Amino acid sequence: MTGQRRTVLLTGASGVVGQAVLREAPGRPVRIVSMARPGGTPLPAGTEEVLGADLAQPRFGLDEDSYAALARDVDTVIHSAGLTEWGLPDERYKPVNVDGTRRVIDFAQRAGATVHFMSTAFVAALFTGAPHRLSDTNVTTNYVRSKLRSEQLLRDSGIRHTVFRPTNLIGDSVTGWTSRGQIVQLMSDWICRGRAPFVPVHRGNRIDVVPQDLLAKAVLRAVELGDDEGAFWVTYGDEAMDMERAVEVCAKHAATLGRTLKPVPVTDPDALDPEELRRLPPPARSYLSVLRDVSEVTRCSGGVLPTSMPELRERYGIPHVEDTDAYLRTLEYASAHLS
Ligand SMILES: NC(=O)c1ccc[n+]([C@@H]2O[C@H](COP(=O)([O-])OP(=O)(O)OC[C@H]3O[C@@H](n4cnc5c(N)ncnc54)[C@H](OP(=O)(O)O)[C@@H]3O)[C@@H](O)[C@H]2O)c1
Repeated sequence: MTGQRRTVLLTGASGVVGQAVLREAPGRPVRIVSMARPGGTPLPAGTEEVLGADLAQPRFGLDEDSYAALARDVDTVIHSAGLTEWGLPDERYKPVNVDGTRRVIDFAQRAGATVHFMSTAFVAALFTGAPHRLSDTNVTTNYVRSKLRSEQLLRDSGIRHTVFRPTNLIGDSVTGWTSRGQIVQLMSDWICRGRAPFVPVHRGNRIDVVPQDLLAKAVLRAVELGDDEGAFWVTYGDEAMDMERAVEVCAKHAATLGRTLKPVPVTDPDALDPEELRRLPPPARSYLSVLRDVSEVTRCSGGVLPTSMPELRERYGIPHVEDTDAYLRTLEYASAHLS
């Protein structure tokens, strides 16, 4: 029901998505209880209600009375906490990403709450029927599997829930702001400094990055509307730029910093000569290998990620933002504040 004030438990409040949600929440009919790990990343100054808790512990590490009181209070969970670093073994993701989601489900069952789960668009690469098989050695595979398992747990539980599947997030669509630089800012900075000898991207792939505030707006609107089913691809899909266009944006940004970016060749990752790669310095090798693996994920999804952008715009009022404009703002913010 629209108009009802919701009490939301926000897991992962200190993360990139969590902080974007906190910035978008004022003025909306929501009260947010921010879950943060004791000793973890600090929450922004002025965060009103903070709950020190750990998803990896039974009852989130709370005593029975506090857990019961929380369950009486909360009617909605935005489940955004997770281990998001890539390249770790399966067993590292399980305690937080899989068992943590199980605990969120137990809590939601007790509270009678709806869960809005932050998954990833990369799960498309692991769907049965994906046009290519994601290699087990891909740096994202174990992380993505853990998100897919969580989605399955939610489906099997029968609780009311939605799933949001964002692609790689960039800064705010208007200011480029982010609480922390992530993979896109890091790789883009490297490219904008003219250090990338080439970029390995499969032919036909789109480069799909979405401003973090669009995700936050969509989720909060879903909360307000009381939505409790559906899976949403927070991606640009076939509206997304290609790599040549992304490199043009990098060149434009570099020019504002007084640098002339030489044309960066876009190379088919499958045609890479392993010997040539081995001759590169270690940072370049590792960046190129991550870019190749991300490209493989998109290729496994058919080169273009599935998208719910039209539906997100229509149902949740997500503004129309050109991805290239948002990407440029992200680069500007990153150069001024993150490097
Ligand atoms: N950002 C993206 O580009 C992106 C793209 C697709 C999907 N997603 C999904 O969106 C969600 C949020 O991503 P993000 O970028 O915000 O991640 P993030 O910046 O790495 O933040 C992760 C959050 O989870 C918390 N957390 C980790 N372990 C915890 C535990 N045991 N108990 C309680 N909290 C714990 C972290 O707390 P500390 O800071 O204290 O460790 C942090 O608040 C993730 O589930 C991710 O899979 C993100």
